[in-house]
Amino acid sequence: MSEHILVAVAWPYASGPRHLGHIAGFGIPSDIFARYHRLKGNHVLMVSGTDEHGTPVTLVADREGLSPAAIADRYNRQIGDDLSNIGLSYDTFTRTTTHNHYQVTQDLFTTLYYKGYLLKQTTQGAFSSKTGRALPDRYIEGTCPVCGFGEARGDQCDNCGSQLDPIDLINPRSKIDGSPPVFQDTEHFFLNLPAFAEQLTEWIGRQEHWRPNVRSFSLNLVQELKPRPITRDIDWGVPIPLPAYVDRTDKRIYVWFDAVIGYLSASIEWAHNRGTPDAWRDWWQNPQARHVYFMGKDNIVFHSIIWASILMGYGNGGSYGGGSGTPLQLPHNILSSEFLTMEGRKFSSSRGIVIYVKDVLSRYDADSVRYFLAIAGPENQDSDFTWAEFVRRNNDELVANWGNLVNRTLTNAYRNFGAVPQPGPLTERDQQLLAEVEQGFATVGDAIDVGRFKAALTEVMRLSAQVNAYLSEQEPWKVIKTDRERGGSILFIALRCVDHLKMMMTPFLPFSSQRLHEMLGYTTTIAGPLLFREYTEEREHTHRVLTGDYDTWDGRWAPTSLPVGQALQAPQPLFKKLDEQIIAEELARMEQSEH
Ligand code: MF3
Ligand code: ZN
Repeated sequence: MSEHILVAVAWPYASGPRHLGHIAGFGIPSDIFARYHRLKGNHVLMVSGTDEHGTPVTLVADREGLSPAAIADRYNRQIGDDLSNIGLSYDTFTRTTTHNHYQVTQDLFTTLYYKGYLLKQTTQGAFSSKTGRALPDRYIEGTCPVCGFGEARGDQCDNCGSQLDPIDLINPRSKIDGSPPVFQDTEHFFLNLPAFAEQLTEWIGRQEHWRPNVRSFSLNLVQELKPRPITRDIDWGVPIPLPAYVDRTDKRIYVWFDAVIGYLSASIEWAHNRGTPDAWRDWWQNPQARHVYFMGKDNIVFHSIIWASILMGYGNGGSYGGGSGTPLQLPHNILSSEFLTMEGRKFSSSRGIVIYVKDVLSRYDADSVRYFLAIAGPENQDSDFTWAEFVRRNNDELVANWGNLVNRTLTNAYRNFGAVPQPGPLTERDQQLLAEVEQGFATVGDAIDVGRFKAALTEVMRLSAQVNAYLSEQEPWKVIKTDRERGGSILFIALRCVDHLKMMMTPFLPFSSQRLHEMLGYTTTIAGPLLFREYTEEREHTHRVLTGDYDTWDGRWAPTSLPVGQALQAPQPLFKKLDEQIIAEELARMEQSEH
């Protein structure tokens, strides 16, 4: 029975190029998961886009003297390119500035409003004492009232992770000119989170399959819910869709409220773009569908509490909820990652302690980078990216184990037979190895399905090492000289194992797996190219969407039946060994960019 699985991936801010830490947290894990489920024959819908509203983008725009829209355009393009180049197989990677996204966001806002879940409250907003302009949270810095960190932002302390309000900061100051802000009355809409407390407690209580930290963190938050503002004094965002507000340019919906709605609006956009406008309901109004969210740990609250409340409040209301009448589906799992550091330090674009996706991919193969992030990334604890480890893992693991297995198997088979050899009688050892490798489809698959990607990849690598050990022990290159049939049998077994392992590697290493697939003589696609398509909305400008024709890919997550006699292609090395020298080069490069 095939399942409907929504792979909901955090939306990167269109405020700058994304670095390895971002890709490690939301990108690689979500893609492994999506590709695996497609191979399983499930109906996968993987959606995301660039998060383009709010102060992350206006700050950059102000700094560069450009409009927020121009900044968003620039980084939407660059981030899309990066994600495509590292092979993240979105069904739709769009943006939050589409007409469709505005409509969906406004429908959810209005529906929550008329259902009584939004409260209008007057609060103290921060305004510049010099210009009188509103100072959004991220324009204000001060000392954290919780931990004493001196450079906490108005919305959050990056040191202790506390969610803050600018008025909580000790010695607040404007980031623009250092002046202390003045606080004035301002009217905003608040999502009445306490109204969902009981439902949230009950629902999160039942999510026994969540990672323990996500579940207990979320349950703790439910204890102390307060209404939360979802509008801001800012002119860059989705307009507030109520008669008295829709024409006001000084107030907009808060970026986080619209960003999480992106999961729904992108699904609706996907359905519309492929000419089946209601197809999104198979995921969103299907109680059997599984929705799995991927993000860094700093985003948990927005998904397990805020997005869940928005969905509970909307239920089957509004213009989208109608349909079959089933309430919109809540998250099934929230796979948040920990943080990645770089050579022992926090990534910091502003201080130049950073390696951007674009730069790393200009010098190294996507699959080498994917391998490192899958096997050594911050899946369940903070982890460190070092160039020395990157080189070591690439050379001693990827090249020496899997790359070597592929190379010695294909080279010997190609040279001696040119095709998959006809085996003679199989020994017990042959059958035992084949059975052990085939077992991987169950163990590796189960690990991926519950978000244990490291364990899954480690198991594939262990199986690869087993096949290497078999080859070293059976020495087909020697046997073949005296007993061609037995030599062929050994290579047949090794080829079968390589073919199985190729399928298991595909979610992790799609580029090399497709090349290997072709070297094994197949002409089909198991991991084909990603595509950009341009879509024009009614009366709106055109936007570019990252997608792919995944329905035409035909790999299956099951033992393959490599046909005897299938012609092999001349083998090429799958991976490059990296020169130790690059460690010093990369460290020097990093030092240069630091400031
Ligand atoms: N842009 C946010 C960040 O980079 C993530 C938004 S995820 C979404 O931290 F759920 F809101 F879409
Ligand atoms: Zn703090």
